[in-house]
Order: sequence, then structure tokens, then C-alpha cells
Amino acid sequence: MEWTAAVITVSDKGSRGERVDTSGPALVEMLSEAGYQVIYTKIIPDEFDQIAQELRHCSDELKVCLALTTGGTGFSPRDCMPEATMDIAERMVPGIPEAMRAYSMTITPRAMLSRAAACIRKNTLIINLPGSPKAVKESLGYILPSLQHGLEILTGEAANCARK
Ligand code: MTE
Repeated sequence: MEWTAAVITVSDKGSRGERVDTSGPALVEMLSEAGYQVIYTKIIPDEFDQIAQELRHCSDELKVCLALTTGGTGFSPRDCMPEATMDIAERMVPGIPEAMRAYSMTITPRAMLSRAAACIRKNTLIINLPGSPKAVKESLGYILPSLQHGLEILTGEAANCARK
């Protein structure tokens, strides 16, 4: 049995094919190595409605256990990932981004500039990660070992999220 996952990359340039996305593939690789089955990946622009729609799709239709996003957490006027995540959230999970920032602050003080959020919608845990490949590897590497326990509690016996 494997936990299912989705990876959403948010990048204006990436979605137009003007920049090669390396953060999304880095997340897919780390998830796969940890035993997750990544069943969906997508690159979309920094558009609030599109982000919210993709997150709803991951939770309500694909029913993945874990949906990770990369990008759009900073201070650029176009950065709206945390707002879109909070918009579709049923319950916030502040401890995960708090832990990512606390750990990342030991690497770079600029970690405080990520506004990443995490939430639960139905049986899906949704976590924002920053945009750079370095930041996603550092952040996910730190939280990944603790996620499975949370997913077990979230889905419980009557796991409705797609475990294959
Ligand atoms: N976290 C880690 N672990 N390592 C990093 O290099 N970069 C920071 C921060 N978090 C960084 C990090 C920087 S420079 C920014 S601007 C914010 O993430 C937001 O990034 P985003 O706008 O690409 O989401």
C-alpha cells in the first residue's frame, strides 16, 4: 500500500514554458523515494483562482493523501499561494510551516520571507513549499519523516483518500 500524492508548481514563467521547472521534479523524486505514489503533477501560473481550483481538484476529485505546492509564497505582488490555500482550507495546520521556517532559519535568515501555509481539506493534507529547488529540498527533507503519522491519523481506518 502506498500513499498517493500530487505536486503543483506555481510559476508564471514555468507555465509559459519560459523556465524549466526543477522544483516540481525534485519534490516528485523525494516523495517517490519515501514511498509515495505521485499520481498528478501540474505547472500553473500565479493565479489565485487556478491555484484554488487545482487544490480542490487534488482533494475532492483525485482524493490524494498529500498535495505539495512549490512557489508563490514570497512577497512578490503576484505571490498568492498562501491566500489560495487558506481559501480552500477546512482546517489550518500551522505547525508544519512553523517547523519548516524554524529549521530553514538555521540555513538562511531569508527563510522568514516564506509565507507558506498548510491545511487539511477533506482527507488531503496540503502543504506549501517555497519556490527554489534548494528551498524545497531543505524544507521537505525536514518535514517528510513526520508526515506519515499525521496522514495515518487524518485518514484513520476508513481511509477515503486514494491509497493504492
Ligand atoms: N527556505 C529554505 N529552506 N531555503 C531557502 O533557500 N529561501 C527563502 C524562503 N525559504 C529559502 C527558504 C527565500 S529567499 C524566499 S524569498 C522565500 O522562501 C519565498 O520563496 P518563494 O517566493 O519562491 O515561494
